Amino acid sequence: MLGRLNHVALAVPDLEQASRFYRDALGANVSVTQDLPDHGVRVAFVDMGNCKVELMEPLGENSPIAAFIKRNPGGGTHHVCYEVADIAMARQAAAQHGFRIIGSGEPKIGAHGKPVLFLHPKDTFGTMIELEQA
Ligand code: CO
Repeated sequence: MLGRLNHVALAVPDLEQASRFYRDALGANVSVTQDLPDHGVRVAFVDMGNCKVELMEPLGENSPIAAFIKRNPGGGTHHVCYEVADIAMARQAAAQHGFRIIGSGEPKIGAHGKPVLFLHPKDTFGTMIELEQA
């Protein structure tokens, strides 16, 4: 079912600082910052060639990553995203194996304009998994 690793998402308390660290200290190719108000995050992408690292800072009162930053004030790995060919089939497989899907259980349009599902980290060895239809 799983295709390529699409991105690793790191929640950070200060996106400008994290972007500078990747750009200046590590010499990486970092995108401009984007506000995604519908998703409650401000993001920048580090282009790793074979995949991306997504740096995310909470945006707004109801950011879905606000609680994560509260628990991990210095930042941390929020999720990894794997590509799947068919999100409906991925949803079915998750249900069959008893993995909880975050939210309504239905695929949503993710931060990159593609249908996604998030699997609960308690069912996936502590790291939340995002499945994105490639
Ligand atoms: Co993601």
